[in-house]
Amino acid sequence: MSVADAAPLAGRHIVLGLSGGIACYKAADFTRELVKAGATVQVVMTEAAEHFITATTLQALSGRAVFTNQWDARAAGSMAHIDLTREADAVVIAPASADLITKLAQGRADDLLSLMCLARPIARCPLLLAPAMNREMWAHPATQRNLAQVRADGAEVLGPGNGDQACGEVGDGRMLEPTELLADVVAFFQPKLLAGKRVLVTAGPTFEPLDPVRGITNRSSGKMGFAVARAAADAGAAVTLVAGPVALDTPRGVRRIDVGTGQQMFDAVLQHAPTQHVFVATAAVADWRAAHPAERKIKKTADRAMPHVEFAENPDILAAVARLPAATRPYCVGFAAESHDLLHQAREKRERKGVPLIVANLGPATFGRDDNVLTLVDAQGERELPRADKLTLARQLVADIAARLAALEPPTSPTIAST
Ligand code: C5P
Repeated sequence: MSVADAAPLAGRHIVLGLSGGIACYKAADFTRELVKAGATVQVVMTEAAEHFITATTLQALSGRAVFTNQWDARAAGSMAHIDLTREADAVVIAPASADLITKLAQGRADDLLSLMCLARPIARCPLLLAPAMNREMWAHPATQRNLAQVRADGAEVLGPGNGDQACGEVGDGRMLEPTELLADVVAFFQPKLLAGKRVLVTAGPTFEPLDPVRGITNRSSGKMGFAVARAAADAGAAVTLVAGPVALDTPRGVRRIDVGTGQQMFDAVLQHAPTQHVFVATAAVADWRAAHPAERKIKKTADRAMPHVEFAENPDILAAVARLPAATRPYCVGFAAESHDLLHQAREKRERKGVPLIVANLGPATFGRDDNVLTLVDAQGERELPRADKLTLARQLVADIAARLAALEPPTSPTIAST
């Protein structure tokens, strides 16, 4: 399971190029993913790609006739290599073969796909490449040299992945999976508001053992925290996510540390917090734990006596980070999940924990759901982010945090105009 927004590529026009390779079979699914994400997709294939998948399949999935050669008379003035990219928001080549990457590095243009890449308006039509090849081909100095060149020319390289290859070997060079490619394309279009920043996020519930098989936990699904981690990563931040026990996929590019108890979450957070620019405490940490968890499963007794559990209070992670010395204290953002008196409690919590920003939401209306309503509470007042899916809200929250960070940064000294 992963967090997603409904139509993250709505209004985007993607030219999807396929060069020859067995990974062409994944391009069918990738086309579907792009269309489901709201993009319009124009497929362009090389002759080699047609050996692996038919244009008919991709036409059916994209809903548009596929272009395969530069002599195609359908384009206005028979100039497919010019027309195809003029309205495109990006050219994505998946799979990008070693041969295609070589052509791009050299500026060769002997088929429609390479010709179109050379003729695209480079300043406003970015090129994204998803390499797919055998691990030896990938590791070859010639391939790496060509990749360095296409990167230097402005191309973005997605992946490749690592693992089993169609040839039976194992290593680097697998094309990313369609859902991974989609996540990277969506991320590519996000404004890099947190470039160069390190962001630490907690997410999910904690699990406090009573005995080896039972424990205290809560209904937090982790979706909001994972969405915040993804949004921050998409905004260009280096993100560390400390996650309680949840069944969610790690967002692409995010470093994840799994923990069980509140104490473990505290330890992981306090270890990393002093090097971070931002800390977002989304986790629903259990307030209490069993002071002495039983070493063996607690059994019913003949006299049916109730078990006695002594509770101890968990450390408050957010408050502890907010108390770090100013030089090592990240910008702290807390969450308040309440069942009643939401704003009153959020204001009180902000003061008590000593943090500049609290994000308030109603617990029963958010736990486990894909959408939410957030209210940002700071020293000045409140601002509501109306109901939306959690990733959309997380992107708005990240934009808000980025603006707050920018406002804190010392103004750059004005350049004195020379006369
Ligand atoms: O005190 P309360 O649990 O209501 O506060 C919620 C906020 O504090 C959330 O941001 C939560 O992640 C954080 N918190 C924490 N450590 C705790 C309890 C809450 O970081 N032990």
